[in-house]
Amino acid sequence: MAAMSSRIIFLVLLVLLCQSVFAQTPGVSGDPEKGKEIFRGRGCPACHSIELSGGALGPDLTHVTMRRTDEWLVRWLNDPPSILKDTDMPKVPWKTQEEVLDLIALFKTFKKDIRKDFLGKVSKKEAGKRLIEEYDCKSCHRIEDPLSGRARYPDLTREGQKRSRKWLDKWLKDPQSVKPGTFMPAYPFSKKERAAIVEYLAALK
Ligand code: HEC
Ligand code: HEC
Repeated sequence: MAAMSSRIIFLVLLVLLCQSVFAQTPGVSGDPEKGKEIFRGRGCPACHSIELSGGALGPDLTHVTMRRTDEWLVRWLNDPPSILKDTDMPKVPWKTQEEVLDLIALFKTFKKDIRKDFLGKVSKKEAGKRLIEEYDCKSCHRIEDPLSGRARYPDLTREGQKRSRKWLDKWLKDPQSVKPGTFMPAYPFSKKERAAIVEYLAALK
């Protein structure tokens, strides 16, 4: 009995310790309200839109935390050319790293769950089309809709003429293995999701 309760006390202490450590962990502590001010104050809207309001040189950032990890964002915001040589994204002289964390906290307020419940219920091609909306590929790519995408990225409207299913599958599975250093994000697609997206893209002719 005594051994049991000391084990419980140990577990409670462990939980408390973890909570206090995580409360100080970067990424959890950013302030989205401050992030909003920094975003405007640092001139980000000149090149970026959020919820489609803002510039169109760089990707729309509404769902950027669906495709990039916190670590990636910290590295990118501190030193863009370390990830993409010759990028037009400027290197910002941050006063503190808090500014970077506040921006990431702002981006996270737009994070949404990806709907997949239609997989297996609609045709593969239709499922692929919906997944492309869910994952917000149009923040970089123009796909059918002339108002979507950015000029600097490939237009996928005729992708089925350009690439085979096999190539597309490989690309979506691991873009870096096809083209090392590419800016195309790697997504954790399931096999079923990938097959649906390939089917939709291959039919774009
Ligand atoms: C002069 C234009 C310009 C400005 C100003 C700018 N960016 Fe960018 N940004 C870009 C471009 C262009 C890219 C995409 C990389 C490429 O293709 O070169 C990018 C990429 C990004 C990405 C990654 C997007 C993704 O989907 O992977 C984030 C995040 C980002 N910028 C945040 C910011 C923030 C925050 C600011 C303000 C501090 C900012 N940017 C200011 C041009 C700009
Ligand atoms: C942050 C911007 C960005 C987002 C978001 C993005 N891509 Fe891309 N994608 C790229 C870039 C950059 C390339 C070009 C790769 C290169 O040449 O380095 C590319 C290339 C591609 C290609 C190959 C085009 C060709 O034939 O050469 C396909 C297919 C593609 N993307 C599909 C997708 C899909 C599907 C999504 C959403 C799940 C997506 N992309 C989201 C940036 C993006």
